[in-house]
Amino acid sequence: MKVTVVGAGAVGASCAEYIAIKDFASEVVLIDIKEGFAEGKAMDLMQTASLNGFDTKITGTTNDYSKTAGSQVAVITSGIPRKPGMTREELISTNAGIVKSVAESLIKESPGVIIIVVSNPMDTMTYLTHKATGLPKNRIIGMGGALDSARFKYRLAEALDAPASDIDGMVIGGHSDTGMIPLTRLATRNSVPVSEFISEERMAEVKQETKVGGATLTKLLGTSAWYAPGAAVSAMVQAIANDSNKMFPCSCWLDGEYGLNDICIGVPALIGKNGIERIVDIELDEAEKSELQNSAEAVRKTNQLL
Ligand code: LAC
Repeated sequence: MKVTVVGAGAVGASCAEYIAIKDFASEVVLIDIKEGFAEGKAMDLMQTASLNGFDTKITGTTNDYSKTAGSQVAVITSGIPRKPGMTREELISTNAGIVKSVAESLIKESPGVIIIVVSNPMDTMTYLTHKATGLPKNRIIGMGGALDSARFKYRLAEALDAPASDIDGMVIGGHSDTGMIPLTRLATRNSVPVSEFISEERMAEVKQETKVGGATLTKLLGTSAWYAPGAAVSAMVQAIANDSNKMFPCSCWLDGEYGLNDICIGVPALIGKNGIERIVDIELDEAEKSELQNSAEAVRKTNQLL
């Protein structure tokens, strides 16, 4: 499988690195507008091949989309990341133009490509990619829920003093500090509801820590995070490559699922060789339903800024 990663910044390079280390793709093309940057990152990563034991070929190019031709999957990380104190929504004016032109250039070279959108505000950038390209809805996926769920599991593992591998949990809704909905009711430790292990108060803290997970890191790092975002995208690319039918919460175009239309927002979906194979429309309780409605309203408000 050939994968293109647009944007050779921290998230793009991390994503390329994880894809290579897992060794499921034949080729990864890193593309960036900054002269020589993607070439440099690709060369640096390729010099880890003999150390890390992968055969994936990573190449870099300065904005030459012809090098991306024939990609089965493309990841869009381009645009500016947020600085401490900023919301993801504040990035829209810069990132919208970039994401639209990147998506159009990708499709010109790879008409069958499946696009994974990472750039923020992610749900709105995913919506924009749908509107701008008219691709079938299964071929545009927003990466947010996979990352937010990993952060939820990290916080739950911390609260339960358990290994993260014991924890299962999922975050739906918009990829924003207020829009995320960690589904605490459904979270488990090896099939046992986490409520058996922690108090309601501690659970409320975990929920809040999860929602501001990205902001917490942005404050610590001075820019937004990259390891977990890169790992989350690479896991989604791997599910497509292996046709795994693996369930990830991710930003999907909704046609009535969860009572929502004309919006991209985080819901559980099965990911396989066609991208989104199926949206999993689970039964939410009344509180979760109302949280999702509020989250969708906030995403719509940001969409209106386009
Ligand atoms: C984050 C960015 C990728 O949450 O949105 O770290």
